[in-house]
Amino acid sequence: YSPVQNVKQSCFLLFLAMFSTFLFHYFISRTDVVSVTPWLAPIVWEGTFNPTLLDAVYYKKNISIAATVFAVGKYVMFLRNFLETLDQHFFAGFRVHVYVFTDQPKEVPKVKMAAGRELIVQPVPSSNRWQEISARRMEIIQKLIEEKIQNKVDYIFCLDVDSKFHDRWGTESLGGLVAVIHPGYYKNDRSKFPYERRTSSRAYVAPDEGDFYYCGGAFGGLIPEVLQLAKTCRKNFEDDAKEGIEAAWQEESHLNRYMWINKPSKVLSPEYLWQDFKQREAEIRTIRFSGVVKNYNDIRPN
Ligand SMILES: *[C@@H]1O[C@H](CO)[C@@H](O)[C@H](O)[C@H]1NC(C)=O
Repeated sequence: YSPVQNVKQSCFLLFLAMFSTFLFHYFISRTDVVSVTPWLAPIVWEGTFNPTLLDAVYYKKNISIAATVFAVGKYVMFLRNFLETLDQHFFAGFRVHVYVFTDQPKEVPKVKMAAGRELIVQPVPSSNRWQEISARRMEIIQKLIEEKIQNKVDYIFCLDVDSKFHDRWGTESLGGLVAVIHPGYYKNDRSKFPYERRTSSRAYVAPDEGDFYYCGGAFGGLIPEVLQLAKTCRKNFEDDAKEGIEAAWQEESHLNRYMWINKPSKVLSPEYLWQDFKQREAEIRTIRFSGVVKNYNDIRPN
């Protein structure tokens, strides 16, 4: 027995304790929110990741990211704010291709993007029903991937235009299949989720099914994964339509069904699609992207 040995041992144990505390706070610094799903996918909240480290990892891979946005009818009014804030906060420093689908290409504001980033305007027909505009989104995303970006881009995010960025949305959000938890339901039990509840619909989710209620206004991931999602949701939507069924929340309902069967490999917290009319909650340390307050009567054609 040697007293020196004992001191050495104590010092080592003390060091070990301090180091693990440091690690814990550095990597899992949020204890007020759930930061992993039961199938072990990360749930991204401010304070659960190191942005500098993540950017360095992906910068070496020279990745590029596509973003799609639909601006049909009066929704073009949201484009300027959306595009200007996107350029500032969405994957800053990375190669980004923004695809704007619109029935009024001339009305798209000429927003100057940072170096290495481009804005591409794609004409689409107008529609008299906003449900139909929403319905054709999956078909258009499928075609965009198959015909234009399959071999050119690594990741894609499909975003709602009536929203804007306020803070970083970057490499922490990358994953195979990525979904955003809806800000309206993240504190609710799944019995309250507005899933499609008629068994006749292909978007049906049973009362004992469903993990989270996800937003239709933002989703993404690797190109092949999002292609599979778009194809499946489009087919289910169209097969429902042939039988005269329109799911409760259109493509959002189909997306939720898809995400129940095909678990997302990364889940983004409601920081990634807040709603401006909602009061901020204590666990929301930052709002990265949010839906702007709008009057539906002013912008929807029906
Ligand atoms: C990154 O990829 C782009 C497009 O393929 C290419 O033009 C560019 O040279 C690449 N950059 C590096 C540093 O490899």
